[in-house]
Amino acid sequence: MLAPPTTTATKTLGQRDADSAAAGLALEVQGVDLRFGGIHALRSVSFEAAPGQITAVIGPNGAGKTSVFNTISGFYRPAAGRIRLGGTDVTEAPVHRRASMGLARTFQNIALFRGLSVLENIKLGGHHLMQAGLLSALAYGRKAREEELTLRAEIEEHVIEFLQIDHIRHRSVDVLSYGLQKRVELARALAMRPRVLMLDEPVAGMNREETEDMARFILDVQEEWGVTVLLVEHDMGMVMDISSHVVVLNFGQVIASGTPAEVRRHPQVVEAYLGADAGVGGMAA
Ligand SMILES: Nc1ncnc2c1ncn2[C@@H]1O[C@H](COP(=O)(O)OP(=O)(O)OP(=O)(O)O)[C@@H](O)[C@H]1O
Ligand SMILES: [Mg+2]
Repeated sequence: MLAPPTTTATKTLGQRDADSAAAGLALEVQGVDLRFGGIHALRSVSFEAAPGQITAVIGPNGAGKTSVFNTISGFYRPAAGRIRLGGTDVTEAPVHRRASMGLARTFQNIALFRGLSVLENIKLGGHHLMQAGLLSALAYGRKAREEELTLRAEIEEHVIEFLQIDHIRHRSVDVLSYGLQKRVELARALAMRPRVLMLDEPVAGMNREETEDMARFILDVQEEWGVTVLLVEHDMGMVMDISSHVVVLNFGQVIASGTPAEVRRHPQVVEAYLGADAGVGGMAA
């Protein structure tokens, strides 16, 4: 649907993807335990996100999906277990360090900067890259800094074009529809040039058309940019359509893991969804 990427920015993204694939870069969650007082939110949770693939994490409300995301991105520190990014143990690493290693995310509840424009919000996504740019400027001088700024601008332009939000770039995010706000959040995450992109309910609250657009964008991010995607979503139709691997959480535990076809007919999954009254209609579809 989209022309193959041609800009310097996308070449750089492509190179990173190629590096990432060559290094087998992916995400590994191993034996993660997380407690909030008396609540045992995650119990020895283990799974992997294969490089360049879409892995979905599903489960009933309160199953622990967002807690897994918060542990992976570094907002929560697990009581036990390890998190690895591309083979590097980041369990003790702060949030910004993980971001600079190529981990980006969107939030279940939209987290945009109110009162700022679409473009300003997207630019804030590249903030940690800017810091790296400043460091390289100190080390290599003005030219390196200018190159970094040019590269960043190219990436922002590419993301804006890719997500078809050029016409709203100067609009305040406050006046945008819910679906467009979600898209701007995705744009901000993509401006971070992620290797691993985590999306927490990217189509929640969207109508059918907005959902289909978002599903297409996520597939394009994976297929054209080679980004590893970790997706939390309740829309089972979408999960089953676009994921290559599905991990099912229930009460903080992984109860099933496999291809969409495998988990759909897994007895414990069917039971968990029936038990939560979430229905298995979407699962069986
Ligand atoms: N910061 C927190 N403090 C206390 N308890 C928490 C916190 N975050 C999550 N929990 C609890 O941990 C459990 C898992 O919550 P989590 O938000 O991870 O579920 P979820 O699978 O994302 O649910 P949903 O589909 O509703 O978004 C729940 O019992 C929740 O109440
Ligand atoms: Mg959640």
